[in-house]
Amino acid sequence: MRRLDAEAIERELSRLGASLGRPLSVAVETASTNDDARRVAAAGAPHGAAFLADAQTRGRGRGGRAWHSPPGENLYLSVVLRPGLPASGVSPIALVMGLAVASVVERRLAPARRPGASGDRAASEVRLKWPNDVLVGGRKLAGILVEAQLRGESVSSVIVGVGLNVGTRSFPPELSARATSLSLLGVDDVPREVLAAELLQALGGAATRFEAGGLAPFADDLARLDWLRGRHVEVAGVAGVAAGIDPAGHLLIRGADGVLRGVAAGEVCVASG
Ligand code: BTN
Repeated sequence: MRRLDAEAIERELSRLGASLGRPLSVAVETASTNDDARRVAAAGAPHGAAFLADAQTRGRGRGGRAWHSPPGENLYLSVVLRPGLPASGVSPIALVMGLAVASVVERRLAPARRPGASGDRAASEVRLKWPNDVLVGGRKLAGILVEAQLRGESVSSVIVGVGLNVGTRSFPPELSARATSLSLLGVDDVPREVLAAELLQALGGAATRFEAGGLAPFADDLARLDWLRGRHVEVAGVAGVAAGIDPAGHLLIRGADGVLRGVAAGEVCVASG
């Protein structure tokens, strides 16, 4: 098993001119990189401080679910953001971070899709499942956990945690039908250090654009990558057909009564078939 090389990540970050990733901490094992980042953020760590680990013993996802975090195969990364935003403006950050991760994955999957490459195109199309799951061929490739710390009406810090399945080729039975990895998708020649730096660069760029212009600069990508559109869903007691994402980042759902409703947050249940 090859361990993550912190110096190689730092070299890539400099080469890319990434705005996040300093200071950088790379652990062999930790409970959860989000917890590490939260701790240092509470102690005053600056915008951009990043935590990676080769393995997590208590990696977690949204809704308190566990995040599969075996050693040496994947990326588990969390970064501290200090956006100048009011508390009310923070929730769309999750969508924007999902788009940033999707952009890195799209670029990396593109060569695997060139004419002559094996595999069908639909199976390697990258999509964003609102609010921020990155799916390829309908299977989850990356998950993002955004946790904000508020101070009154302002945002003190936002921790963005990204789990990207890079090298896992065999998932536990409960995940195997729903998860995928870059390696399973035919991309197995990109060092995790390079991917980590690309993720940090993309997250930093997206955070800056979001602070300057809100969700508007991301509207086209949100529409293009929207995996839920046209599917029957139920979220927070609202059921119907997903009909896009509005300028505030809310999921739009058209009910059987024809009325369009926006949902700000919640666990999405997608009807099968
Ligand atoms: C989800 O899809 O529910 C979100 C998964 C987020 C997993 C990442 S791995 C790095 C960071 N540390 C954690 O404990 N969780 C996030």
